[in-house]
Amino acid sequence: MDKAKIKLITCGLPYANGKAHIGHLRTYVPADVYVKYLRLFGEEVIFVCGSDCHGTPIVVNAEKEGLKPKELVDIYHEHFQKVFREINVEFDYFGRTDAEYHHKRTQEIVQRLLDNGYIYPKEIELAYCPNCNRFLPDRYVEGVCPYCGAIARGDECDQGCGRHLEPGEILEPRCKICGSKAIYRKQKHYFFKLTEFKDFLLDYLGKLKGTENALNYAKQWVTMELKDWCITRNLEWGVKFPGEDLVVYVWVDAPIGYISFTEKACEGKMDWKDIWLKSKAEIIHFIGLDIVYHHCIFWPAMLKGAEYSLPNAVVASGMVKVEGKTFSKSRGYVVWLEDDYLASGLNTDFLRYYLVNYTSHQKDLNFSWEVFADKINNELIANLGNFLYRVTHFAWKNFGKLDAKVDEAALEAIETAVDKIKKALENWEFKAVSDAFMELSSFGNNYFQNAKPWDLIKSNREECEKAVATCLQLAKALTILSYPVLPKTMKEFSKFLGFDVKKSGIEDALKVEGFEIEKPKIPFAKLFPEKIAELEQTMHERIAMAEKRELGEKGELEEVKVSVKVSEVETRGKVKVEEENKPEEIDMREITFEEFKNLDLRIGKIVKAEKIEKSKKLLRLEVDVGDEVRQVVAGIAEYYEPEALVGKLVPILVNLKPAKLMGVESRGMILAADRNGEPILLHPDKEVEPGTRIR
Ligand code: 2FM
Ligand code: ZN
Repeated sequence: MDKAKIKLITCGLPYANGKAHIGHLRTYVPADVYVKYLRLFGEEVIFVCGSDCHGTPIVVNAEKEGLKPKELVDIYHEHFQKVFREINVEFDYFGRTDAEYHHKRTQEIVQRLLDNGYIYPKEIELAYCPNCNRFLPDRYVEGVCPYCGAIARGDECDQGCGRHLEPGEILEPRCKICGSKAIYRKQKHYFFKLTEFKDFLLDYLGKLKGTENALNYAKQWVTMELKDWCITRNLEWGVKFPGEDLVVYVWVDAPIGYISFTEKACEGKMDWKDIWLKSKAEIIHFIGLDIVYHHCIFWPAMLKGAEYSLPNAVVASGMVKVEGKTFSKSRGYVVWLEDDYLASGLNTDFLRYYLVNYTSHQKDLNFSWEVFADKINNELIANLGNFLYRVTHFAWKNFGKLDAKVDEAALEAIETAVDKIKKALENWEFKAVSDAFMELSSFGNNYFQNAKPWDLIKSNREECEKAVATCLQLAKALTILSYPVLPKTMKEFSKFLGFDVKKSGIEDALKVEGFEIEKPKIPFAKLFPEKIAELEQTMHERIAMAEKRELGEKGELEEVKVSVKVSEVETRGKVKVEEENKPEEIDMREITFEEFKNLDLRIGKIVKAEKIEKSKKLLRLEVDVGDEVRQVVAGIAEYYEPEALVGKLVPILVNLKPAKLMGVESRGMILAADRNGEPILLHPDKEVEPGTRIR
């Protein structure tokens, strides 16, 4: 760490058009942890982020909700701020890109690029919807990726090769709003001469620091291909491009938020130009792996062209999986921060610990409630929570005040932990950081166990006091060293040890100065299996609903499309729809007959039905599917009495992957009509044998 330089840490800006989920925190929590450690080590840091307010994701969404873009942005800007506050992600400034100061800075930079000759006009063919009578920028258009053939959205092949797509590149374009085939029409737009920056980028990427995942991708892209970059769009909402009825592309103005938010964070404290024009700071971007191209290629080229300071490091977090599956809002593999986590009242530090400690920052992180409960109960609480409480409680009960000396071995263990943390931070390895304080906690537990202070106090009070003081020193060090990961808990716990962790520096971990102990409270409340089961059930129900929609309602798609209000066009190329007040998302893709043939659909006979303990919604059914009797869990308990179901013939999807709901394995899915959330069972017109195929 170069202490001489102030550090600017930024986080990728969340789009202000949807709720915060665990995928967001994968980047924000480690960045916040990093900032808190830097401050602990005495570094001067500025930490900024803000809402990404422009671009088609916001315009399309607002349009469909009947809101103005600003009204939509207001809602989610507020939401993100609230979530960050609660989870203790503490930015020095959390701005928004629709603010006047941001527009001013963006226009100044675009003007510099124009003046320096890096922007030129060119007539291009753009997707145009003859039905809606409008050009279709970015996410207004969907089609086929020209590189890999996957379904892609206008500006990115998000489901295939991940490439950025330039306007006009997408094949077989369709209007995302009305579904009509789009045509191509000519219009003048403006291009940034990215191709002129190839040599600069090759050199720059050689020096850029950060995680290997980001650097390796970026180096490959520069050697392979670079294209000039269309930086204007036909939209009303956005930063106006000088002298034209166009706005700048959202990926031009969004990263400029890093600069404009720094200006705000610096107000009254220092000159932001020292950071962004005079290279007097170290600039470190924390981002998700999906936006490496924008941060390692476009952004440094833009900064270079406008003669601004260049970032020193790009730190990319791996992606998130939920219950072992690729994160997907539409398929239910998601944990919503407000509605799931915060509403459950769980300690927010538990989630911070999980996100940091589950795996290396660069690898994919899998979130599962079962693993979560295991890590919290059997690791965090059993090791750290246990040590802090038993030592402090013993000291309070038997001594209150302690002046005794501390064992050298403990001080050495603390020093080792500090060194490990320092090294791990240099390598952006936040798991190793948290492992280091957990190892120190294990050392503490062993020390306490071996010293047996509960015996020693009877035979040698002086020796006992030294052993307890040693453990208290370890506890104090642990409180300080784990604070960046567990700020809420450690802030509270440090009071019992007689100090304020928020005012401490790393040197306090080794400062021996006696203790005055208050009666402690347990630092972490254990997670109860019932709570976890409840959270698991919510998730499994969401996944089951999504699967049901995907598999069971394909045939109704056309009807659904006209009868519902489209409420969100989101990043994965799916359309979220709203029927009255029941939000759901529908996959618009058609399936082939081959895909349909793969469904093993049969008529089954329910031979047994019973309630599942502790579940209001689920029934356990045994269904005769011809060649065997299957156990199936169905979410129909609120609408059907189990006794009334026995003997009924129902359609069942037999080859659905087994899933566990409330700990009960479900092998298959009963199909039902969905009347505004109420399942209505279906029965064959005539009596047929169990196992009869549905075609
Ligand atoms: O991908 C996204 O969610 C973008 N809103 C990130 C922008 S980061 C930066 F460049 F501002
Ligand atoms: Zn592709």
